[in-house]
Amino acid sequence: MYDLIIIGGGPAGYNAAERASESGLKTLVIEKRAMGGVCLNEGCIPTKTLLYSAKIYDYAKHSDAYGVTFEGAKIDHAKVIDRKGKVVKMLVSGVEAKMKKHGVEVVKAAAVIKEKTADGFTVEADGKEYQAKNLLICTGSEAAVPPIPGLREAVAAGFAKTNREILDMKEVPKELVIIGGGVIGLEMASYFNSIGSHVRVIEMLDHIAGPTDGEISALLLKTYKKKGIEFLLKAKVTSVGKDCVNYELDGKEQSAKADVVLVSIGRRANSAGIGLENIGVITERGAIVTSDTCATNVPGVYAAGDVNGKIMLAHTAYREGEVAINNILGKKDRVNYNSIPSVIYTNPEVASVGETQESVKAKGLDAKVESFTMNYSGRYIAENEGGDGIVKLIIDKKHRTILGVHMFGTYASEIIYGAAMMVEKEMRVEDVHKLVFPHPTVSEVIREALHMI
Ligand code: NAI
Repeated sequence: MYDLIIIGGGPAGYNAAERASESGLKTLVIEKRAMGGVCLNEGCIPTKTLLYSAKIYDYAKHSDAYGVTFEGAKIDHAKVIDRKGKVVKMLVSGVEAKMKKHGVEVVKAAAVIKEKTADGFTVEADGKEYQAKNLLICTGSEAAVPPIPGLREAVAAGFAKTNREILDMKEVPKELVIIGGGVIGLEMASYFNSIGSHVRVIEMLDHIAGPTDGEISALLLKTYKKKGIEFLLKAKVTSVGKDCVNYELDGKEQSAKADVVLVSIGRRANSAGIGLENIGVITERGAIVTSDTCATNVPGVYAAGDVNGKIMLAHTAYREGEVAINNILGKKDRVNYNSIPSVIYTNPEVASVGETQESVKAKGLDAKVESFTMNYSGRYIAENEGGDGIVKLIIDKKHRTILGVHMFGTYASEIIYGAAMMVEKEMRVEDVHKLVFPHPTVSEVIREALHMI
């Protein structure tokens, strides 16, 4: 009998397993693919490996303004993909080693929850039955492939790819058509544009980057158009052919020729086929319904990560896994979904936390919203010729608490955790005035902006 069986060894599962085991819970992880989940194998880490190579290449191409000349800079996409493979292998074996070090047992098979018993639950994997007092479901998500005529056939034929297949493609497509201008679409558009593909993004909304602050989304659009990426906004994909994507724009049927199509129009929770119905776990549109303690409707059963469909980000998954373990241990803990930062690793980067200009308006909050140029940072100017980075603050007018921070520019991904702390701890503008920021850093724009608002 285990104290805890975790189904799924991605960021939610492996991190929760470590926390559970170090707290004395006898823990088993059941994972049907590689440890590390989408994040390590076909998501966060592989894409960042590719984007870093593209960034070096971009710097080499545009270095003249900084007094440096590179003759004949080249990028070898196949080599980049090989390196990505090495990085992934190293990190996956690191997770496996962590499981060993923490005494977590790992079974490599597909798990199915069989029944609720008097003392807990029975889970079957690889023909064997395992018992546990508690269950934590961390089965993640997969790319949504909706029933657009021809799309599923195109995926089966290899012409259309999801985030999984595109990361192993060794050829550089001349014409890449991306369906969906969200996070995955934009990061892949950024990479393939940098390495020489002609990229067209078909997005059904009138803006890119989904819920990102409107001003920043517009800046990103402008920057990427300048780099040569074509955006077809308010365009509805009607069908996918053998070498093209057909769409409707301004009431007209049009067609975009492609060598490769990327489908990045959101993800679906992996809740089917794991036996949720055998113990009565409630789902809504495929996602397991959880509270902010990560509990499901069945006592003793928790769900963390993409499978609960809340905020599909690896760092949300880490926190949710920890919250679930704390609650299993009888320590009250909750996820504060308002202060989870998000990053789009385009070049320049986008990073956000908390309320946006649009969300305060929708909620009727009395907030001051102001944008400041990143040129308030000496380091930003030194490192960004002609840069148009911004930091945008959303401040509660009455209490002067920091409700949201949005950044567009270099290092934004590394700076945003500081802003997330300000939002999480409900800090006031005057509280941050007492903090010392290192100089010269780009992070100082937050300090400067808070003095001006
Ligand atoms: P997404 O939800 O970010 O964006 C999907 C986009 O596709 C939306 O803009 C939507 O309007 C559009 N769309 C939907 N149906 C369409 C259609 N038929 N035609 C044209 N456009 C259509 O989804 P995405 O990019 O697939 O990312 C999936 C998940 O992965 C997200 O939850 C994201 O947060 C996560 N992720 C996070 C990353 C990060 O934190 N840097 C990186 C990559 C993924």
